Amino acid sequence: MRIVGQLPTLTQRYDDKFATNRMLEAAGLPVARSFLMAPAARPGVCALADAEAALTQADLSFPLIVKPVRGRGSQGVTQVADLAALNAAAVALIANAKFGDTLIVEEYLDGDEVTVTVMPPVDGAYRALRPVRRFNQQDGVAPYNGDVAVTTNSAVIDEAELASLPMQAMLDACVRAAALVGARAVIRIDCRADASGDYKLFDLNMKPNMTGPGRPGRDDQDCLSAIAARADGWEFAQLLEAMLAAAW
Ligand SMILES: Nc1ncnc2c1ncn2[C@@H]1O[C@H](COP(=O)(O)OP(=O)(O)O)[C@@H](O)[C@H]1O
Ligand SMILES: [Mg+2]
Repeated sequence: MRIVGQLPTLTQRYDDKFATNRMLEAAGLPVARSFLMAPAARPGVCALADAEAALTQADLSFPLIVKPVRGRGSQGVTQVADLAALNAAAVALIANAKFGDTLIVEEYLDGDEVTVTVMPPVDGAYRALRPVRRFNQQDGVAPYNGDVAVTTNSAVIDEAELASLPMQAMLDACVRAAALVGARAVIRIDCRADASGDYKLFDLNMKPNMTGPGRPGRDDQDCLSAIAARADGWEFAQLLEAMLAAAW
């Protein structure tokens, strides 16, 4: 029997955005800074009521991003401009209860957003596909692909951009991240530039969306990884074949 996919234990572990980012950070990769917050304090988690002190301690300032520890599809991801908005977003997210009571408060990276598909290892080496730029964020947040098809708000970067130093540094970090999470299948990492133009990783997806234009009426349903693959001249089916070739 052969398998196309990740080790389930690793998928579960790295579904936790906070733990994943701290692990990548400890390995020296550029990652968005953040801390955890919940209604009541516990080890490693700050109380909602102490948010202001926690921001000072973490040297974070507004605007910030509030989001679930294990979320997807941009659900519950909110950009907040001040303490009142941070509290309101946190209370709403916790009341919603869909994502548990612990949230991530993260530095808002206000620069260019790109997402990087990293192919599974061939002879031990990971390979990143062409970064795909995300644009038309809504209130700073890329919308769910079910609401806005990614083909309408995403496009591969050109070769000159690809050659730029910040992009190359980011790609290097993404390839290293794939090895650090023990990826055995395709992963996709969301990155954004900070004020100085350097990219930071903020969302590593162990099982990225892999839809394609498979049937009539769904011609615009390329996923972000399929958009990336087309830059290398791959049709969607060839991306699937490359995924199959990495069966273990
Ligand atoms: N730290 C951040 N800085 C800037 N934008 C962010 C940050 N975190 C999330 N976003 C925005 O919100 C979107 C969804 O957040 P993300 O962490 O990728 O969660 P999901 O798992 O739902 O994709 C991102 O694509 C990006 O547009
Ligand atoms: Mg994401």
